Amino acid sequence: MHKLLEDKHGRKASYMRVSVTDRCNLRCTYCAGEGREFIPHPDILRYEEILELMELAVGLGVEKVRFTGGEPFVRKGFGDFMIRAAARFPQLDLCVTSNATLIGEYVTPLAKAGIKRINISLDTLDPAMFEKITGRDLFQDVRANIDRCIEAGMTVKVNAVAMRGVNDGELPAFVDFARENVLDMRFIEFMPVGLETGWDDSRVWKSEEILAEAMALAEMEPVVEAGCGQSGPARMFSIVGGKGRIGLISPYTNHFCATCNRLRLTSNGNLRTCLFSDKVYKLRAVLRNPKLGLSAVERILRRASRHKPMGYELLERMPAGQGVCRTRMASIGG
Ligand code: GTP
Ligand code: 5AD
Ligand code: SF4
Repeated sequence: MHKLLEDKHGRKASYMRVSVTDRCNLRCTYCAGEGREFIPHPDILRYEEILELMELAVGLGVEKVRFTGGEPFVRKGFGDFMIRAAARFPQLDLCVTSNATLIGEYVTPLAKAGIKRINISLDTLDPAMFEKITGRDLFQDVRANIDRCIEAGMTVKVNAVAMRGVNDGELPAFVDFARENVLDMRFIEFMPVGLETGWDDSRVWKSEEILAEAMALAEMEPVVEAGCGQSGPARMFSIVGGKGRIGLISPYTNHFCATCNRLRLTSNGNLRTCLFSDKVYKLRAVLRNPKLGLSAVERILRRASRHKPMGYELLERMPAGQGVCRTRMASIGG
């Protein structure tokens, strides 16, 4: 094995998030919004190119790859691509983050191909609010597909962006949802990523507030994980007598940069070392240049990893009324 990808703070990049498209069939204001320009098709990495980059990353110590979007299942052939990727990298922890509107027909084939984990973005359990947030009337499709994933034996994590004035009245419903279903219900603090997202400090429904309220609704016990567990940056709580768990992801009030193990590859082949930074390393042209290719990409990966910032420092310096970075969440992939 080559030397691992490591930064100046000793953090090792063992997890790569790969966005396969910046397009999405939903229009959540905080993430994609209406009327934005999409990356033109020739600039999107071909599936074969993504596999080459994954091969390189795995050789450099990446052990987990998560496909994201936009919405990954919007891209033609994505379900089959993921099955191919699972066959090519049997040793890899391969998972996906999706809004679950389009996954119905893929659940069984993906589970059969060994995809054990899916994270589903769902900010509300109220169909009318779903339409208000996403601009689409698809709540029931998502709800049915969550059940399909659980029935297929997948580990399901549901992510809700925690937003004051949007979903902060729904905690009792979310707690019941986690009590009655075998899933992790996770609340992610609304982050100031991208411009014109409506972000403002007062709109962040903070993890500590959620936890205090949830404790009053249910008896909950903290989950202690040995070493680097499966919960990533989430603090998890089991509900006593219930089937599921509650999780809190606190990038705003309690950052986890010191243990960050992530690299991000955008659908047009840009490498990002931090969600909070606009700095990109352009891999596509290098990969497509026969005189440069993968060995040159490897050099860039090493250099980029060395200079990975501590994202919270950027957050602390964020000018009032702006985002910590300009790029929309939909094109970074969360
Ligand atoms: P697991 O593998 O299940 O732990 O997934 P994950 O939490 O890494 O992936 P998921 O796509 O479910 O991410 C949940 C959300 O947590 C992301 O969309 C972000 O909003 C937030 N998040 C994930 N990684 C980071 C990160 O490195 N930095 C920050 N600031 N937020 C992150
Ligand atoms: N803050 C926190 N989470 C966000 N997501 C998208 N935008 C934001 C934001 N501004 C979430 C999505 C999805 C995950 C990939 O990122 O809802 O669950
Ligand atoms: Fe990692 Fe940047 Fe997120 Fe911090 S803000 S956890 S450094 S990606």
